[in-house]
Amino acid sequence: MRLILAPMEGVLDHLMRDLLTRINPYDLCVTEFIRVVDMRLPARVFYRLCPELHQECTTPSGTPVRIQLLGQDADWLAENAAQACRLGANGIDLNFGCPAKTVNKHRGGAALLADSEQLYRIACAVRAAVPAHLPVSAKIRLGIDERDSYLENSQALYEGGVDELAVHARSKRDGYRPPAYWHHIAEIRRAIAIPVITNGEIWNAADARRARAESGGSSLMLGRGALALPNLAAVIKAGQQPLAWPEVVRLLLDYSRQEITGDKGVYYPNRVKQWLSYLKLQYSQAAALFLQIRTLKRADEIQQILHRL
Ligand SMILES: Cc1cc2nc3c(=O)[nH]c(=O)nc-3n(C[C@H](O)[C@H](O)[C@H](O)COP(=O)(O)O)c2cc1C
Repeated sequence: MRLILAPMEGVLDHLMRDLLTRINPYDLCVTEFIRVVDMRLPARVFYRLCPELHQECTTPSGTPVRIQLLGQDADWLAENAAQACRLGANGIDLNFGCPAKTVNKHRGGAALLADSEQLYRIACAVRAAVPAHLPVSAKIRLGIDERDSYLENSQALYEGGVDELAVHARSKRDGYRPPAYWHHIAEIRRAIAIPVITNGEIWNAADARRARAESGGSSLMLGRGALALPNLAAVIKAGQQPLAWPEVVRLLLDYSRQEITGDKGVYYPNRVKQWLSYLKLQYSQAAALFLQIRTLKRADEIQQILHRL
């Protein structure tokens, strides 16, 4: 079974990837997306979103990290994919699932699910620009308003040369509402001859079993569930018990120390609140903690409260 940590903009930064890959058997992580419009981005953009580039593009515990690009222009995506690989990326992931209005307005993310020919052109251009030994993957949803374009789009990406496809088993209109429609992934798997990764609504070991049974695939991508239950991948793959709250507090403290030294704490308060909003789903103590820190804006104030727990 392969387990992949999903890309999550605003939450899954390199510190969180480090923390979660240290305690889980993840096979791969994907960065937050890098937005490509009409230029070759400077190296510092890639290093900021993926500091792992300084260490062979793996997390400190050795899990490979793939760089995710989001955009609609085939040539600029290819140019930036090549740039990422020159900087040491060990693979490129293309985002065709983002539902954000600002992104879709410019025909990026999920908006491209209406244009399988453009998906094909992007896949061809990026595959040609990335050295042959490095993988190019893509991530799609099942459709925009309806769950109806997944076969056409999967086929287009496959024919364009993508090596692997992650499918968030919902339409853009479905948003993040349960359920996930894993059975459609079984249809995709029958239609294309590359690995297909099942994503969406996997919160525990029972969900993982059902996702595998319904999709017929053994590769799973974990998103919000991986933040709600920090050792979810170990629970799924190694039968570990879910972490107890005091162990989660230790992780929160670890994360806080790193964020504070990393950037003077400016960005930490939002990230930790975001993480707590997922931890609340599994731990009632996280809901109480969230209320305590909700209005705090300084990292040291939040850290003091964590130390008192
Ligand atoms: C806050 C947030 C940020 C996300 N950012 C990205 C992103 O940058 N790239 C991407 O392909 N998907 C992104 N996603 C989608 C997730 O990778 C995943 O497909 C989705 O959450 C479904 O999986 P889950 O039900 O396990 O959470 C994001 C989702 C959330 C909730």
